[in-house]
Formats: sequence, structure tokens, C-alpha cells
Amino acid sequence: MPKIGDIQLPDFPLLLAPMEDVSDPPFRALCKENGADVVYTEFISSEGLIRDAAKSTMKLDIYEAERPVGIQIFGANLDSMLQSVEIVERTKPDIIDINFGCPVKKVVSRGAGAGILKDIDLMVSLTAAMVKHTDLPITVKTRLGWDDDSIKIVEVAERLQDVGIKAISIHGRTRAQMYKGNADWKPIADVKNNPRMHIPVFGNGDVNTPERAMEMRDEYGLDGAMIGRASIGYPWFFREVKHFFETGTHMAKPTMQERVEVARRHLEMSIAWKGETLGVFETRRHYTNYFKGIPNFKEYRMKMVTSDDSQGVFDTFNEVLDKFGGHNFN
Ligand SMILES: Cc1cc2nc3c(=O)[nH]c(=O)nc-3n(C[C@H](O)[C@H](O)[C@H](O)COP(=O)(O)O)c2cc1C
Repeated sequence: MPKIGDIQLPDFPLLLAPMEDVSDPPFRALCKENGADVVYTEFISSEGLIRDAAKSTMKLDIYEAERPVGIQIFGANLDSMLQSVEIVERTKPDIIDINFGCPVKKVVSRGAGAGILKDIDLMVSLTAAMVKHTDLPITVKTRLGWDDDSIKIVEVAERLQDVGIKAISIHGRTRAQMYKGNADWKPIADVKNNPRMHIPVFGNGDVNTPERAMEMRDEYGLDGAMIGRASIGYPWFFREVKHFFETGTHMAKPTMQERVEVARRHLEMSIAWKGETLGVFETRRHYTNYFKGIPNFKEYRMKMVTSDDSQGVFDTFNEVLDKFGGHNFN
């Protein structure tokens, strides 16, 4: 069974992917309760951390219940990354993850995120220095390569392993692809099949049904699946995959009661974590998925996403239960 450093994981663990503005402590806790084996924070700018920007440091918060948790940082400057490792260490995460995969222009143009895929030597030397700088396990999340002509992920993964990372998660797209097309898991399997690899190789990209997770395990032979979009507003995805692995059957979808209950707790935890205003505002993006598939729901969703105070949202949850309590999602 795979291990990240000393962290023992179950067979074929499911990891919650780092997602900006999504993978915050309340959401991570809900995913953990529903079967995520490792959760990651959204990416945090090393430059922002150093400047002690409130926005960046708040992202370092961890709930005990969500462990093991990895804090993901990004940057391309050695000094800033090393200083960030020290700042991150103080908050006692279980893992520090380096983002070498973010495709957005603002990040890439500074040579960070997927930008570093253009300079593999720098990627390796930066990683080596970070590994040496901490006792925490360092993991890397990256993409297949910069573009189709520069896919060297087998070599890159081996070099990163050799400088001491403890696991690698690979999104089966290139930077040039952004989020287009389908994720290609074959090159990830090539990494896993490299006889020199001994650290866990986790696959990422388009794991959106339990069947796809099983395919990643059985046909591609990867060590675990990192799951992003399929979990947004649907933390139950993890337990559904596990149920499918154990029984070969699909678990019943969460009832309306459960959806309301989880949405309510999500909002409560968000308010406790970041205050009423931000809590109400930032939980909005999840409601569409929490209540996906209910006909004539628009009026209620509008109320949830336009209400300026939590009472308005909680009242709407109650109305939803009254009106749709018996809705069957299967
Ligand atoms: C809203 C959103 C935010 C994301 N933010 C990050 C991030 O902060 N760090 C990161 O490494 N990847 C980020 N990603 C990429 C995901 O971690 C993941 O690699 C990608 O969504 C593919 O996996 P999926 O098909 O399971 O969603 C983000 C993706 C989405 C949709």
C-alpha cells in the first residue's frame, strides 16, 4: 500500500486535488468525512506568503480533522520558495506540495506553475533545495509537459524522485491543452511502469465516475487518483468511488435531507472560519452542484446566491426541504 514519506495510505487512495477558491478548510473537511484519504490546499503564492499577505496566510489554516493535509505552494524563485517552506512548516501540515502544473498566464509568465516545464533543470534544482530544507515530505503536482512536443514526464518524474520527493501527482494534460480535450493517462502509466520509480504515482484529470477511477487503478495501474472537479459541490464522490470498489455497485445518491444538511454545515463552517460576509459569499459557488438535477430549482438557487446574510440562506435551505424533501436523485 502506498506511503507518502511515513504517512501510510490505504490501497488506491483518493486525493482531493488542490483547487483555488474551492479546497478551503470547510470543503476539505467535508471531503475527508466522505472518504478522501489526502487533501490538499489550493495553491499559495510563495511571494504572497513572504509579504505576509493576509489572503495567503489565511490559506494556511488547517483543521485537525482533515489530516493528512498537504499545503501547496508555487513560485519560481529559490529564496522565496525556501522562505515559504519555513513559513508553511510553522502551521504543521503533513505534506508540502509544489505546484508545477498551473497553466494560467499570470503564473506561467513568471516561470512558476507549469511555466517551469520549460526549464526542467530549474524544476529539479528548486525541488532538491526544498527537499533539503525541510523534514516534511515534499510532493509534486505537475502536467505531462509544456506541449505535445515536449512530453518528458518519465524522465522528469524520475529526476524529481531522485532528489527526494515522496510522491508525484500528474495531470494528464499539457500546459498547451489547458483544460481542453481529454486527459491522457497513458504517459502517467509510463511513469509508473518505469522500473526505477518507487514513489507513489497518482493520476489526475477527468476522474469523474467510479468506473473511471477503477480504470485508472486496474487498466493504468496507478497508485491512487487525485480528484478535482467531480468533487466540487459533491463531496460524496469519494465515498461513491469507494463503495463501487468494494461492492461493484453504485451507491444511492445522497438524499435531499443529506444535501441540505451538508450544505448547511458547509456554510456554518465557512462562517466560523472566515466570518459571516466572506463565508456567505464564498460558499455560493457550491450550491449549484449540491442541488444539481432538481427541476424548477432556479428560484431557490437565486435566493441562495443573492442572500447577503446567512439567515437568508438557512431559511432557503428550510424552504427547499419543505418543497423538495421527497425528491429522488437516482
Ligand atoms: C476551480 C479550479 C481551481 C484549481 N486550482 C488549482 C490549484 O490551486 N493548484 C493546482 O495544482 N491545480 C489546480 N487546479 C487543477 C486541479 O487540481 C486538477 O489538476 C484539474 O482540475 C484536473 O483534475 P479533474 O479533472 O479531476 O478536475 C484547479 C482546477 C479547478 C477546476
